[in-house]
Amino acid sequence: MESSALTKFISIIYWILCFLLPVIYLIIYHNKVKKKKRKNYNRAFGVAFVIFIILFGIKLLLRLNVAIFEYPNCLINNICEEEEEDIPVNKENDKTTKKTTTSTSTSTKTTNSTTKKITNEKTYAKVKDIDGEKISKGKTSKGYDIYEINGVTYVDGYLIANKTYFLPEDYAPSDTYTKADKEATRQCATCINNTAYQAYKDMKADASALNLNIYISSGFRSFITQRNIYNRNVKNNGQQKADTYSARPGSSEHQTGLCFDLNTIDSSFANTAEGKWVNQNAWKYGYIIRYPKGKNDETGYIYEPWHLRYVGTELARKLYNNGDWISIEDYFGITSKYDE
Ligand code: DAL
Ligand code: ZN
Repeated sequence: MESSALTKFISIIYWILCFLLPVIYLIIYHNKVKKKKRKNYNRAFGVAFVIFIILFGIKLLLRLNVAIFEYPNCLINNICEEEEEDIPVNKENDKTTKKTTTSTSTSTKTTNSTTKKITNEKTYAKVKDIDGEKISKGKTSKGYDIYEINGVTYVDGYLIANKTYFLPEDYAPSDTYTKADKEATRQCATCINNTAYQAYKDMKADASALNLNIYISSGFRSFITQRNIYNRNVKNNGQQKADTYSARPGSSEHQTGLCFDLNTIDSSFANTAEGKWVNQNAWKYGYIIRYPKGKNDETGYIYEPWHLRYVGTELARKLYNNGDWISIEDYFGITSKYDE
């Protein structure tokens, strides 16, 4: 059983016990007093209630403990679990394969239309810099300006988070989407950049018109969430392997509020109708495939067809490069390597 399913199962059993134990107590009491003929049901109900309160209290305390020490968002948004992690799973083992297959087969009819020319001429602007003093850090190997604002690195006006350029631990996205929206706010009420999210909604609507189902499976991840995910990946696969697909805390783009993992976090996504459409059309909405195929040495990560990063149409068009994706690192002349 998956650990999240197991957690849910234990939780359900616990809730059942909360109600069942007081009832069992009352039944035992009732059977006992039948023989003695000395009934004090008020007291028995009181004891049953106390049993319930104690069990309920333990559950609340445990929840508070998890919320405070593991996932602070738990207290705000009632989301106490980690997000899906970016593990490129084998298709056969992917519990969500069924979902993808269904969605793919329903959209088979439209596969041809995914290649038809999209007449979306809208321009999606790049995200503005965060407020603060700009500190110049020189030029990249290709002559672009590098600067820092409050510890956040920008190259030519684009926020960079990779193995070379870390985000501050407390960095949280700015200009965020504030309306209640389950998809945008899975982990945080105001952590998705508004410009990026509006572009995503347009992309999703256009895909939907073609019978393609695009959804966010992982959006914003805090430093703490990323640390938990990375540590778990290291534990499961060793650090060397983990570093090929999982960012160390502070270096994940998921902390920027500018990126999403779409649909199944699985290399098979690239071969679904949705994956193909996203690969060909995401740039029109200002999104790029951040870790393109065969660019491991540049980005520091294996191919992630599901991981989209918002940069605005101007840069996205250049990086799309008519389908032969260029990485951000190559385009700007920067590295993505840990300083070990
Ligand atoms: N999978 C990407 C690299 C991340 O962990 O942010
Ligand atoms: Zn991702």
